[in-house]
Amino acid sequence: MASAAPFCEHRQVAVDLAERATELRALDHALDAAVAGEGSVVLVSGEAGIGKSSVLRSFLRAAGGRARSFVGACDDLLTPRAFGPLRDIGRQTGGALAAALAGDDRESVFAAVLDVLAQAPTVCAVEDAHWADEATLDVLRHVGRRIVDLPAVLVITYRDDELGAGHAPCSRCSVRSRRPRPAGWCWAACRRPRWPE
Ligand SMILES: Nc1ncnc2c1ncn2[C@@H]1O[C@H](COP(=O)(O)OP(=O)(O)O)[C@@H](O)[C@H]1O
Ligand SMILES: [Mg+2]
Repeated sequence: MASAAPFCEHRQVAVDLAERATELRALDHALDAAVAGEGSVVLVSGEAGIGKSSVLRSFLRAAGGRARSFVGACDDLLTPRAFGPLRDIGRQTGGALAAALAGDDRESVFAAVLDVLAQAPTVCAVEDAHWADEATLDVLRHVGRRIVDLPAVLVITYRDDELGAGHAPCSRCSVRSRRPRPAGWCWAACRRPRWPE
């Protein structure tokens, strides 16, 4: 479990990044709800270098006292590795998820991911999902439909200008402005900050 940080430190961390209060607030609200038992997916989008990972890191530091956290990353590979970011996460969790990933039973992986998210308040982050392999995208979709009943926040970062045609669930972001929103899905788009010249 990540080291505990006093709540006031969390608020301090949240203002360290320029112009990211809105995104951090969205993540913070999602974590509050998750701790109360209502999970959600938060999509953090934006172009390369806009600050998606920085927002995620700030949030994870802040979340330390309230939830455990696991992070996996997708890579720009010529040959995508199946369940790539989940293998990162499996190394952090060990146990059933690591065991499921070592086998070839997809159902076991799906179940193990849900179990990880169900055990305790958890933030699970998948970075750079525009590079995600199809097996990972299926897991994200599967989790996204069930997360409302779990004490977890699934944070997915991705470059919205590099999404492939098949990149659901990231393409879920396209429904953000319609109502009703998909239950448990939330948007935290990183816009270009108005930094001083
Ligand atoms: N809100 C911010 N305030 C100050 N610096 C920032 C902010 N967001 C990002 N940066 C800086 O910009 C660079 C790229 O940020 P990063 O989070 O890696 O972007 P991304 O993940 O979107 O590619 C980093 O050096 C980071 O420190
Ligand atoms: Mg990044």
